[in-house]
Amino acid sequence: MKIKSIHSRLLTWLTIPLGLVSFLAFLIIFFLLSRNVNQHFDNALLVAEKGMEERLYVKDGVLRFALPHFGIDIQTSGGEGSVFFSVEDGNKRRLVGHEDIPKPHTTKERMFYNTMYADQEVRALYVKYEMYRNTKVYNATIIVAETLEERRALINEILLITIGITFLIVFIAIIASIFAVKKGIEPLVNLQYFIKQRDIHDLTPIEEEVPQEVDSLIKSINNLFIKLKNSFLHVENFNADVSHQLRTPLCELKVLIETDKLLKSSPNKNQYLNIIDGMAHTTQQLLLAAKTNPDAFDRDWFKPLNLSELCQKVAKEKVPFIHENGFEFAYEVSENIWINGGPIVLQELLSNLIDNAIKYAIDEDKKPIGTITLSLLQKDDAIILSVEDEGYGIPNEYLLNIYDRFFRLDTRKEGSGLGLGIVKQIAELHRALVKIENKKPQGLKVSIIFKS
Ligand SMILES: Nc1ncnc2c1ncn2[C@@H]1O[C@H](COP(=O)(O)OP(=O)(O)OP(=O)(O)O)[C@@H](O)[C@H]1O
Ligand SMILES: [Mg+2]
Repeated sequence: MKIKSIHSRLLTWLTIPLGLVSFLAFLIIFFLLSRNVNQHFDNALLVAEKGMEERLYVKDGVLRFALPHFGIDIQTSGGEGSVFFSVEDGNKRRLVGHEDIPKPHTTKERMFYNTMYADQEVRALYVKYEMYRNTKVYNATIIVAETLEERRALINEILLITIGITFLIVFIAIIASIFAVKKGIEPLVNLQYFIKQRDIHDLTPIEEEVPQEVDSLIKSINNLFIKLKNSFLHVENFNADVSHQLRTPLCELKVLIETDKLLKSSPNKNQYLNIIDGMAHTTQQLLLAAKTNPDAFDRDWFKPLNLSELCQKVAKEKVPFIHENGFEFAYEVSENIWINGGPIVLQELLSNLIDNAIKYAIDEDKKPIGTITLSLLQKDDAIILSVEDEGYGIPNEYLLNIYDRFFRLDTRKEGSGLGLGIVKQIAELHRALVKIENKKPQGLKVSIIFKS
């Protein structure tokens, strides 16, 4: 299963408990407030009941209720609810008030209860009252009831306010969590960005400041980088050493063949010399491939360089050879174009491309075809260096493999199959792209696209 990002994990694990705690807090607050509201209303019923107790008196040995000017006044009923009451004496004779208000089944002296009266739900207070007069006890039952609109309205209001406050708190907490998570993982995001920016061949240690938690991971990666770089260096040094070691005996062999008296008139002499030239060329290309491997190459010595002047220099060296081989040469180089790079490797790149054009832009009779064009131009924020010929080009289906080491289309032709791979490596060293395209009506154009 794919692991979710740290960002969403943190947010999930912050918001779920936060949501639950807020919900719980909401329930507790709501419960406490509703209880207080009910208590407040019940107290008001109690006060009204007390007022009714005070109106009871005894006359002629009979319990009576002082009726004149009686009006029940319950503070809480702000005019919306209805109030009912009744007072009975010990013989269940109604002294005052409404008929048949339901009584609770209780033996308690005083009790609050909910019941139905006049088709409405009411909250009622039931009190058994005893009055002592002249050593006699007079019993009375007082009931005061109130409809529930006022309570409900207040409780609903509290409910709305509590919901509003809870939402506000949750909202603020979520915003704070998002901000905190963002701040918390900022070093990781920066590290990710920094690593993304790095070149894939860059094996120098990561030196970003990192949080403690990933410090050991970064140290392990850095150790791995060092080991990798060393092993690339080892392989490429070995490769370079072998090529180097082969060069001297090949040169000696060539001199020997050229000067050997027995071979002087041999018809095979030229073939031997061609084979040795081919081997020398391959060792030289291998050496160059080893030296320009981006994984082992040190870019530190790259410096600002006038690419236009470099083109001029290569053109001067190559033009005699191009003409010697029967091609026309076109030079379309804009002046004063600068890049950051290595002059020696760039010369090798151009030399390989021009050699390819000379070698492959020929017809079936090995006759040169057309013109070889060297061009350099700046287009928007790209600098494009290209070599174009008018030969038969490369069939499109091979364009993807053409950079592979030792890949050659026609093995009858001389060549080691390393040139375009080297060109790509050198371009990568300069963070440039290589584009190879067949032109119409015919020809091959190889472009190196640098970011300016
Ligand atoms: N300008 C070109 N026109 C047509 N085919 C080409 C051109 N350049 C390269 N090719 C084809 O691509 C193949 C690979 O070229 P690449 O330069 O990598 O190797 P190579 O020329 O064979 O050997 P090396 O460059 O090492 O001497 C060549 O063998 C050739 O078939
Ligand atoms: Mg080549």
